[in-house]
Amino acid sequence: MFLVAIFLALLAGFVSANGGVITTPTNGTVIMPGESFAFSYDPMADYSISTYNYTVFLFTKLPSSLFSSTEWSNGHYFGRFDYPNYPAVPYSTHPAPANLTMPDFSQSPRTGWGSGANVTNATVYLLVLEEWLTGSDNFGLTMSLAINELIYNGTTSGS
Ligand SMILES: *[C@@H]1O[C@H](CO)[C@@H](O)[C@H](O)[C@H]1NC(C)=O
Ligand SMILES: *[C@@H]1O[C@H](CO)[C@@H](O)[C@H](O)[C@H]1NC(C)=O
Ligand SMILES: *[C@@H]1O[C@H](CO)[C@@H](O)[C@H](O)[C@H]1NC(C)=O
Ligand SMILES: *[C@@H]1O[C@H](CO)[C@@H](O)[C@H](O)[C@H]1NC(C)=O
Ligand SMILES: *[C@@H]1O[C@H](CO)[C@@H](O)[C@H](O)[C@H]1NC(C)=O
Ligand SMILES: *[C@@H]1O[C@H](CO)[C@@H](O)[C@H](O)[C@H]1NC(C)=O
Repeated sequence: MFLVAIFLALLAGFVSANGGVITTPTNGTVIMPGESFAFSYDPMADYSISTYNYTVFLFTKLPSSLFSSTEWSNGHYFGRFDYPNYPAVPYSTHPAPANLTMPDFSQSPRTGWGSGANVTNATVYLLVLEEWLTGSDNFGLTMSLAINELIYNGTTSGS
């Protein structure tokens, strides 16, 4: 029983030490509008686990449900990237950039009706949706979700 508990604790530690984690910027980092910030994501890829692509968003509002909604969330799409992991992705063809740029949400898109807003010290959500697979039966790609909270246009200096 004791050994089983130790084994489970080790396994839990092992699993949580593995990927599916945004390593930079860390949770709680203050980032100003238009600021370039270092980005790094540690994917699920490991022996017997293949990572295919991961998609990065910044949400300024978390969805409150998964039902259809015309105002489901707000934010920005950074892109869909791959990560070198043998044998799934021997060479990365569209790697994530080392730095991302925090949008300035006060700026309007160049065309159309859309307009922005000035916002102070807001919690926003850097979100990574990863597509990964193991070798056993998979009813579609497995998707993991990682979220780090950032402070947009913070009033305390963190940058
Ligand atoms: C980030 O910080 C918030 C606020 O303290 C907390 O609720 C959340 O669980 C943290 N997220 C991670 C990934 O550590
Ligand atoms: C990338 O981000 C780092 C850390 O925030 C910063 O020091 C560096 O100047 C940025 N690089 C570019 C090219 O913007
Ligand atoms: C990974 O993303 C690229 C570009 O979006 C796409 O062409 C490719 O099919 C994706 N790979 C998988 C396994 O979904
Ligand atoms: C944001 O603030 C700037 C400076 O005060 C102002 O010029 C701009 O019109 C504001 N933008 C919006 C969308 O309110
Ligand atoms: C950032 O916050 C300041 C107040 O601290 C505000 O005056 C300014 O309009 C905000 N800027 C943007 C781009 O939202
Ligand atoms: C800015 O936001 C952070 C995180 O929500 C909060 O702890 C802090 O008190 C806020 N600062 C101000 C001046 O409101």
